[in-house]
Formats: sequence, C-alpha cells, structure tokens
Amino acid sequence: MPEVSVKPLEPGAVIGILGGGQLGRMTGLAAACLGYRVHIYCPDPFAPAKQVSDVSTTASYDDLARLTEFAQSVDVVTFEFENIPSIAVSTISPITPVRPNSRALEISQDRILEKNFISSLGIATTPYWPVRDAVELERVLNSLNRSGVLKSARLGYDGKNQTRVNSSDRASVVWDEMGGKTGIVEEWVSFDREISVIVARSGDGMTRVYDPVQNCHRCYILEHTIAPARIGRDVAEAACGIAREIADALDLVGILAVEMFLKDDSSLLVNEIAPRPHNSGHWTIDACVTSQFEQLVRAICGVPLGDTTRHSDAEMQNLIGDAANDWLKYLEEPGARLHLYGKSHIRPGRKMGHVTRLKPLTPNAT
Ligand SMILES: Nc1ncnc2c1ncn2[C@@H]1O[C@H](COP(=O)(O)OP(=O)(O)O)[C@@H](O)[C@H]1O
Ligand SMILES: [Mg+2]
Repeated sequence: MPEVSVKPLEPGAVIGILGGGQLGRMTGLAAACLGYRVHIYCPDPFAPAKQVSDVSTTASYDDLARLTEFAQSVDVVTFEFENIPSIAVSTISPITPVRPNSRALEISQDRILEKNFISSLGIATTPYWPVRDAVELERVLNSLNRSGVLKSARLGYDGKNQTRVNSSDRASVVWDEMGGKTGIVEEWVSFDREISVIVARSGDGMTRVYDPVQNCHRCYILEHTIAPARIGRDVAEAACGIAREIADALDLVGILAVEMFLKDDSSLLVNEIAPRPHNSGHWTIDACVTSQFEQLVRAICGVPLGDTTRHSDAEMQNLIGDAANDWLKYLEEPGARLHLYGKSHIRPGRKMGHVTRLKPLTPNAT
C-alpha cells in the first residue's frame, strides 16, 4: 500500500534507529538539530550512535520482546544498515511505522532481488547471473571466459563476501571460499568512473536529489568521493532520473543511494542501491544546505524536505584504519572538516572517520 501523506512529527518526538554505527550517529546528530530525540537499538553496547543519543537499547535483532518495547517507545523507526533481519521489521511495523518500508529493505538485502527489481524497471544493471552451487558457478564462469566477480547474494558490504575470479581459479574452491551460500556472478565491468546519486523522497512522493558524485574505491572500500562528479550534464540528469525512478517504484519514504558505473560510451549501469544514508553522501554535511542525514530525518518525520543545493564543491576522504591517527593534522588543515566516529579500536579496513575538504563552487557541467 502506498504510504500517503505522513503526519508531521513535532519536535520532541522520538526517532528509533535500528543499528548503531556511524550512519546512525550522524543521523542522530541531525535529528538533534531539529529538536527530535533518538533511541538507538543495537547489540553493541559501545556503538558509535549510542554516544550521541538520548536513549539506547542493547539487544539482538531477534529479541522480539525488546523490539516490541522499543517500537512502543518511539514515534517512527528507521534503519542505518540493510542487514536487519526481517523479523525485526515485521515485529516493529504493526506498532510503529518503519520508514523506508520493508519492501525497500528486503530488495536491497539481496543482490539477486535487487538486480531483478531494477531490471524489471527497464534500468540497466551490471550483467549478472544467480548461482546456487559450484556446478552453476562453473557453467557461468565458462560462459564469461572465466572472468567475473562472485558476490554472496546477502550480507555483503565494503567488499566483504565477494571475490574476483581469475582464469586459473577452480569454481569449487571459489565457491567454498565464499561459504557456499547462494550468490551472484557479475561481469567485471571496465568503467570510466563510478558515480552515485542520493535521492530523498517524502510521504507525498516529492523527491529531491543531490548532485551526482564520483567515487574512488581501494580494495573494494570507498576511499574518497569527489563532489560534484566530473561528468556532463546529460549523464548527470540521466543518473538523477534513475535514482528518482527507483525511489518512486519502491514508494520509498526516506533516502536512497544508487551506485552506478559510467562506461566509456556514457551509458550507466546500476551496481547496487541502499535505502539509507550512504558513505558517498557524507560530503553533504559540510557542502550542502541540507545534509543527507537531515534529509532522512525530515522525510521520515513528515516535515518538508530540505534544499539539496551544493554551496561548495568538496572532496570527502574516508579515514580507514591507521589513517585516523592523523586526526590532529586534519584539524590544522585550512578548509578541512574532520568527523570522527568515536570507535575505540582501530582495525585495518575499519572506517574510523572522514575528512571533507571544501573547495570553491564550480558550476555544474554542461
Ligand atoms: N561487476 C563489477 N565490475 C567492476 N567493479 C566492480 C564490480 N562489482 C564491484 N566492483 C567494485 O567493487 C566495489 C564494491 O562492490 P559492491 O558491489 O558495491 O559491494 P559492497 O556492497 O561491498 O559495496 C564497487 O564499488 C566497485 O568498485
Ligand atoms: Mg557498494
């Protein structure tokens, strides 16, 4: 059922967030700016978002009694990562609205459902083949000249649970390494650049998009984002149109990030979607009138969406692992804005914070 108009929540209302990572933390900070209170639900007692929230629950995502209590104590619920068990959402939603809706969550949790859904809209995705066992994997790899990437259908992020397959790899070994769970093989796309678009959508179907940005990954993890993407106006408009179309088709209330590959011939392929704040949107905190986090709060609370205008260009650099040790250096750097996530232990590959470097505004490309 489409969610018609969302009744505005008054300041003082409580937003429940499933998940306690940095995305929840930055959403909580944005909520506080608008006078809302935040209740974080997360199994980790030291979760970054709990450090900046009013109330928190430390319990697992399948503890139905605690989920019910949580739902009863908040006015709206959202989530900051996709891998929330569906039981959590089905327990909460009869009591308190969950925004974005459970369908958007289910589709984005599973790479096969996700790519089937996007293709059903007539939007091009990375060519893909679902695989359920090593024999299927062998067959698909042979048809691709034994080159591609195998990803688990579920529970992948920051390159986890995915592996590039080379001609010498044996399908049975690759399959076992992946844990033997249903997966997807994708053609390895040689793209010109990677871009993403974040779109916000309100309960009455209004959308607002941010300028497309360009993303650079190292070892499958986002390293930096350049805003705006160095692309022509036509490509930018096409990318924004794709993001809007997907958000509309999901009847999404909240925000949606769409990752895309831009090929040499200017065509776009959707890589994946995320119905939540996205790492490639962190620059919006410092360089846009309304950040992606505030926009999420506005959408789910049923108040008008904010202005997505970019007032500065920006480059966002993730502080991954040891890079966070240089925090003092970033504080001294003119034009740099430091954001640390309050994580006590540095681990290789762990996102500890980010720095946004503001640049003079350039007009969007023509
Ligand atoms: N089919 C592909 N072709 C080329 N590069 C890819 C492909 N799939 C993934 N990548 C690279 O790996 C990164 C992470 O993969 P992605 O599917 O987005 O998973 P995650 O959920 O870990 O972000 C992508 O941003 C891209 O740089
Ligand atoms: Mg990705």
